[in-house]
Amino acid sequence: MCGIVGYIGKRDCSDVLMDGLEKLEYRGYDSAGIAVFENGSIKTVKTRGKLACMKAKLDNEGKPLGCCGIGHTRWATHGEPSDINSHPHSNGRVTIVHNGIIENYAELKDFLKEKGYVFLSQTDSEVVACLLDYYYSERNPLKAITETVKELRGSFALGILFKDFPDRIYAVRKASPLIVGKGDGEFFIASDIPAFLKYTKEYILLDDDEIVCMENGKAQFFNVHGIEVSKEVHTAEWDVEQAQKQGFPHYMLKEIHEQPDVADKTLKAVIKNGVPDFSDAGFTDDIMRSIKKVFVVACGTSMHAGIIARYAVEKLARIPVTVETASEFRYMDPIVGKDDLVILISQSGETADTKAGLELAKEKGAKTLAIVNVKYSAIARAADMCINTLAGPEIAVASTKAYTVQIAVLYLIAFRMAFANGNITEEELKALTKEIEKAPDAIRNILKKEDECRFIASRLVNVEKLFFIGRGFDYALSLEGSLKLKEITYIHSDAYAAGELKHGTISLIEEGVPVITIATQESVLPKTISNMEEVKARGATVIALARKGTKFAENTVDILFEIDTELPDMLTPLATVCGLQLIAYYTSVLRGIDPDKPRNLAKSVTTE
Ligand code: G6P
Repeated sequence: MCGIVGYIGKRDCSDVLMDGLEKLEYRGYDSAGIAVFENGSIKTVKTRGKLACMKAKLDNEGKPLGCCGIGHTRWATHGEPSDINSHPHSNGRVTIVHNGIIENYAELKDFLKEKGYVFLSQTDSEVVACLLDYYYSERNPLKAITETVKELRGSFALGILFKDFPDRIYAVRKASPLIVGKGDGEFFIASDIPAFLKYTKEYILLDDDEIVCMENGKAQFFNVHGIEVSKEVHTAEWDVEQAQKQGFPHYMLKEIHEQPDVADKTLKAVIKNGVPDFSDAGFTDDIMRSIKKVFVVACGTSMHAGIIARYAVEKLARIPVTVETASEFRYMDPIVGKDDLVILISQSGETADTKAGLELAKEKGAKTLAIVNVKYSAIARAADMCINTLAGPEIAVASTKAYTVQIAVLYLIAFRMAFANGNITEEELKALTKEIEKAPDAIRNILKKEDECRFIASRLVNVEKLFFIGRGFDYALSLEGSLKLKEITYIHSDAYAAGELKHGTISLIEEGVPVITIATQESVLPKTISNMEEVKARGATVIALARKGTKFAENTVDILFEIDTELPDMLTPLATVCGLQLIAYYTSVLRGIDPDKPRNLAKSVTTE
């Protein structure tokens, strides 16, 4: 959460920082600010509100003029969104931007107060500025940083300016993301690659507690003891266009429409000679055979992808799967050990709880497999094995294309595990792989039905609550459909296994309450239809997503959205999800909400 940027070079720093912050706004958007060296002194502009407010403020007050500075877009943790709590924070001779949480900030604050420091904000971050100033007694910035870092508990990525050293930026990180972009005689720091992709594709990863000092077209890296270290330069595979809206009104819509291509790319990367092959990631048939139990640990939409995996792996590979939300897994003392595989799913690869789940799984001796969309992210680097999904940068807060490629990979894992364990033959493995290769076309077909989705959205726009139901794979998908809708429309929505509704929730069904029913699974279709009739009999407006040609009794369904696909039942979520995403998207837009930036949410959750 929170996005930080920094720039040093020859360009207009304010413009570069604002550009970068726009790309990072998905990380938080309740306030923003920049600090730039202007003629040797630091000029700070910051304000509560989205980046648009910041732009207006810069237009009114004039932007700081200089070539070196730092910027921040905030998702409040300590202290309400306000001008004073916005970053950058300055105290003494130090100005900082911070992403993360300083867990021991209260005790540090007491200590610093005793030393005479006066605090202006309610944030934990201001403590870092003061502590840096406190340790800056020898006017040695590197020493101040190494001493400060030793005192901080929690997570941090920091961009730091020392007033005595104009046109120099320091940065340091621990458990919060921060990368250094390397241009031609210029350097960037950012929480994520899209912030500087427009200027350079070359970047350097900072390890925990590593410090970078950038000045005069040069960057030096130091470990926590202040000793210089050399670093490898990576090249980003993402293109600048991928991180732009490309004519779509919102990133979310653009990302929904990218799904046929990114699914195709992701499938092709792991299908070799007509079958899924994960040996590049070290996930071999031998390892698959050694696994007694699978745990999937993830958060939000990624966790919902895990629920699809549970149905697929259990059905095909006959290995028990438990899906745990990472924030529970890490504290529940799970019964997990060396014969188990823990799969960590994360778009960002940096979600704090998922990362902690990974560390716990490793401590307990389990094999760990990360499925991440951001190459070299913290989770990618820490897991024993890693598969990269190829969704490209996902900027909208609500995850869409990342989910689709996650489930594509998870299906392929289920296929291969089934083969490795002797549950299916090589011929069957090839046949299943051929089926999933139809997914990109199936997705394209659904995306052609945008008008129907907009129509369904028009029927949802004024409702107070609604429900999603389904059975089997459709139930797993209902959970995601419901989350997507509620996170960007603010309509209360819940998802239930269709057979569970009558055990309580049906009391909430009354005249006109929409029940979105996913009914694509032939084996349980009569049962799902009975559940639709039960809610219909109580006045629900039934919106059904069903395979083309599915027959319903007269008056059971109010609105029918046909899924026209050749995908076998097990794989229909790959297509159906796109309809659910579009329905959520248009409902959000019709309600006047910005679907890219729903209130209170952030895309990367780097705090517990
Ligand atoms: C946040 C985002 C969700 C995302 C979840 C997990 O809550 O708003 O869209 O699914 O984090 O993120 P991850 O990057 O680990 O997949």
